[in-house]
Amino acid sequence: MTGVDPEALARARGLVEGSDRILVLTGAGVSAESGVPTFRGEEGLWKRYRPEELANPLAFRRDPRLVWEWYAWRRETVRGCDPNPGHRALARLALEREGVTLVTQNVDDLHARAAREEAGDRAPEPAHPLELHGSLFRVRCTGCFERREHSGPIDASAVETLPRCSSCGSLLRPDVVWFGESLDPRVIEAARHRAETADLCLVVGTSAVVQPAASLPRTTAAAGGDVLEVNPDETPLTSLAAAALRGPAGRVLPRLLDDSSGRA
Ligand code: OAD
Ligand code: ZN
Repeated sequence: MTGVDPEALARARGLVEGSDRILVLTGAGVSAESGVPTFRGEEGLWKRYRPEELANPLAFRRDPRLVWEWYAWRRETVRGCDPNPGHRALARLALEREGVTLVTQNVDDLHARAAREEAGDRAPEPAHPLELHGSLFRVRCTGCFERREHSGPIDASAVETLPRCSSCGSLLRPDVVWFGESLDPRVIEAARHRAETADLCLVVGTSAVVQPAASLPRTTAAAGGDVLEVNPDETPLTSLAAAALRGPAGRVLPRLLDDSSGRA
C-alpha cells in the first residue's frame, strides 16, 4: 500500500487519461528510491559540505580538485544505482503515448537508462529527456567551451590529475548548471514552450524551490492546464495542484500510470 488517498488517485488517473499533452517535471525525489541522495534531505550532505557550497563557479575556481572529487563521488554513486519503478513507469508512458515530454532537473542518467530498458530493441529510439541542469556524464572545457560525453574514471587526487581538454589543454568541468549560472537557453525555452501548451504538468519529487524549473508548472497552470503532484511532502506547488499524491514515486507512479493506461 502506498497510503495514497483513493479519491486523489482516481482524480489523478482521470487527469492523465484526459490529457493529450503531458509535461513531466522531475526532481531528485524520483531517484531517491534508487539510492541517489536528494539535495535538501539530510543525506544530501557530502563530507561537511552543502551542495550549494560546491556546485558553484567560485568553488571550482578556488578548489577545482575538491569540486571534482565531489562529482567523481556522485558519478560513482549513480553508476551503482538502477532506475526504479517510478523511472520505468514514466519511460513507458513516454513510449506508449504521444505528446509526453520529460523534463528533469536531475543530472543522473536514470531516466535515459529506464527508457532504453523499457524500449528494448523497439524503434524509434526513446527521446532523451530535457536535462535542465545538465548531466554528470558530460564535461565542458573551461577554455574553449567544447562539450562532450565523459563517463570514464576521474582522478581527483591532485589538480595535476584532473581531466583536461584534448584540444586546448584547459581544465574540464562537469557540464552541469551551477548556482549563479544560467540554464542553456535552448533547453529552458523548449521546456517553457511545452509547459505553455501542456494540458497537464505532472510534477514528481521536486521541492520546487529552484528557478526557473519551479516556474514550469505555474506556466502550465497560467495557460489553463492542470498540475498533478507526486511527492511524500507538501511543496510550494501543492496549493496549485488539481491533485496531490502523497507517497514515494517508485510506488505511486506505477499505480497512477500503468493502471490509467489500462494495464494491471
Ligand atoms: P530537493 O532535494 O530539493 O527535493 C527533493 C524532493 O523530493 C523533496 O520535495 C522531497 O519531499 C521529495 N522526495 C523525497 N523522496 C521522494 C520519493 N521517494 N518520491 C518522490 N519524491 C520524493 O531536489 P530538487 O527539487 O530536485 O540544482 O532540487 C532542485 C535543484 O536544486 C537540483 O536540480 C539541484 C539542486 O540544487 C542544481 O544543481 C542546479
Ligand atoms: Zn578546450
